[in-house]
Amino acid sequence: RKKIGVLTSGGDSSGMNAAVRAVARIALQRGCVPFAIHEGYEGLVEGGALIRRLGWDDVRGYLSLGGTVIGTARSARFRTREGRLLAAFNMIKNGIDALVVCGGDGSLTGADLLRSEWTGLVDELIETGRLVTSECQHLRTNLTIVGLVGSIDNDMSSTDITIGAYTSLHRICESLDSLTSTAMSHQRAFVVEVMGRHCGWLALMAAISVGADWVFLPERPPPLDSAKYGANWEDEMCERLSQNRKLGSRITLVIICEGAIDQNLNPIKPDYVKSVLDSRLGFDTRVTNLGHVQRGGAPCAYDRYLATVQGVEAVEAVLRSTPETPAPMIGMSQHRITAGPLMDAVKLTHEVAEAISKKDFKKAMDLRDPDFTR
Ligand code: F6P
Repeated sequence: RKKIGVLTSGGDSSGMNAAVRAVARIALQRGCVPFAIHEGYEGLVEGGALIRRLGWDDVRGYLSLGGTVIGTARSARFRTREGRLLAAFNMIKNGIDALVVCGGDGSLTGADLLRSEWTGLVDELIETGRLVTSECQHLRTNLTIVGLVGSIDNDMSSTDITIGAYTSLHRICESLDSLTSTAMSHQRAFVVEVMGRHCGWLALMAAISVGADWVFLPERPPPLDSAKYGANWEDEMCERLSQNRKLGSRITLVIICEGAIDQNLNPIKPDYVKSVLDSRLGFDTRVTNLGHVQRGGAPCAYDRYLATVQGVEAVEAVLRSTPETPAPMIGMSQHRITAGPLMDAVKLTHEVAEAISKKDFKKAMDLRDPDFTR
């Protein structure tokens, strides 16, 4: 019987609980034994009460809960070899031979690293007398890893969407609707920073969904019309914003992805944009940072669905995995569940950041999903 550990790692995202629930229940249905690893990789390193066997009832009600009930952490200890040695020890002590990790690219890379080091870690545990061979013979060469992408940022390549992104988008839109009503009353401008790290998906989708006037994205630094404006995006933005007012708009809404940059890779900050709107356009401008409100609250229906179908697929991927096949990442492409090599997806994801750092913005846009760049 496969013993499957499930953990959530990195920044929480709504839908992670639904993923844990699906993994636990399908594992039980398929005759496996599910375990919750609490507090992300910290739970693996620490072991003891942080690794708990899951029954059917333990995940009751999980579908509609925000955050991650089993906890998450950005574990510094797991990043060290000694930490991963402890993780291997605790897994073997519990007989866990498969791990489903729900997190972002850093968390999934950590899982793959554990897998690649696995045989060496087990050998070391035996050689140093921490384990006896009989305890781990059947686990020695065979650690199964499956990745589920849980992140509000929707920044992972090889999947159209990540668990939690739509809930976060929904929360951002609700907040922007509230800002719009007060802005309307005063004919004000609002500059709003949204999360997403170096991925502009949340910012772009929110801008379209609420009808913002301008959006700053890391993948497409302004000015959009370099031929006309050179490096002077302030001119381009001001021209467009004043035009919208002339056409009848009572408000101005500017959205900034937190990782937004100009063409020289300098960060674009809300206070600076506010100062431009104040001084050059005379707008009565306020800055709002939505902060972690964007990451909280109950998952929307789509994230419950996505996390559930992907959680089911994660267990199926565990059951069909062999030591030879690379660790899979469960994704979604054109509304179909996919299971491609995890490290290929991570590599592609890093290529976007690299393209941005080299000012190859066209490549960065091309590497993002087609829907994003259109
Ligand atoms: O990756 C998810 C995310 O919410 C990013 O959008 C944001 O930059 C970061 O995590 C915030 O991290 P923390 O919760 O550690 O402040």
